[in-house]
Amino acid sequence: ISLKEYNTFGINVIAKRFVSIDSLYSLQQLLKEEQDLFLISGGSNMLLTSDIEKLVVHLNLKGISIDRENHNDIYLTVNAGENWHEFVLWCISQGYGGIENLSLIPGNVGTCPIQNIGAYGVEVKDVITKVEAVEKATGKLVEFSNEACEFGYRNSIFKNAAKGKYIITSVSFQLTKVEHNLNTSYGAINNELSGKGIENPTIKDISDAVISIRQSKLPDPKEIGNSGSFFKNPVVSKKHFEKLQKEYPAIPSYPVSEMEIKVPAGWLIEQSGFKGKRFGEYGVHEKQALVLVNYGNASGKDIYELAQTIQKTIQKNFGINLEIEVNII
Ligand code: EPU
Repeated sequence: ISLKEYNTFGINVIAKRFVSIDSLYSLQQLLKEEQDLFLISGGSNMLLTSDIEKLVVHLNLKGISIDRENHNDIYLTVNAGENWHEFVLWCISQGYGGIENLSLIPGNVGTCPIQNIGAYGVEVKDVITKVEAVEKATGKLVEFSNEACEFGYRNSIFKNAAKGKYIITSVSFQLTKVEHNLNTSYGAINNELSGKGIENPTIKDISDAVISIRQSKLPDPKEIGNSGSFFKNPVVSKKHFEKLQKEYPAIPSYPVSEMEIKVPAGWLIEQSGFKGKRFGEYGVHEKQALVLVNYGNASGKDIYELAQTIQKTIQKNFGINLEIEVNII
């Protein structure tokens, strides 16, 4: 079958064999026969550049359960195949706070820990209590505590030591019911709220603000294929940054540590003239240069080549190595 509907980039590659799995039991049965699988969940963080020879397993485990709660906290376990944004909206309708800043991020719950999704001052690691996964080699269900996940910026153990060895089946969260830890530090959220005259925002107000910011900057994968930020924001040494600042006084930055500074990749790409550039069926998004887009019939190879061209140009212009955030398959 074609995987076009299963990846948010909308790349048309063929899966020779395909199975959709909706229970932990059937996943464990399958692993007894075959371990070398190609997993697809929300398909929101991959660029497919060729047909898939392995058995493609669409992870479709559904369901949310409440483990326990007290006056202020609620502990939930969510199966991997639940859509992330639908889960966020459900939490807001129930009055559960903690992930409102992560509204409208594409993908499923099961993949949110892998790259530690983050936006507008919040990372999902802040609310994850544990991750459950099946070990491919043994079919055993294992548990990773928050600490064991080794979370970092767009990073976790699932991208490193545990890469390819586990299939995440559920993620558990600790959210708030009464006293929410609202994060409105991000300038764009503040502007959005004060524009509406909101002084004491609710979690719904923040979610609405994030949705409207994202809709104004980021393309909807249902309309234009994309995978969100294609690159990570690079971290440079203070010395390197100061040199860049002399040449480009307007360069934006966020401090990381005493010695290191993060620079928005979107700015570097825009300065290099790529923003809004269209090359037939693919290009760089017109409102956020960090996002590469498929206008309909691009191949994964086309987009990967564009990414490499951008990397070379950024290296030449700024001496910075842009790291790709999306998985290239
Ligand atoms: N900028 C430009 N031109 C652009 C894009 C950005 O000059 O085309 C500059 C602007 O100065 C802007 C700054 O970059 O102030 C930051 O831009 P933005 O607020 O859009 O955030 P970002 O650093 O580009 C990161 C995440 C996003 C996340 C936003 C908001 C990464 C790789 N990306 O983008 O995550 O939504 O912050 O928190 O860290 C994703 O991972 O898919 C994603 C969209």
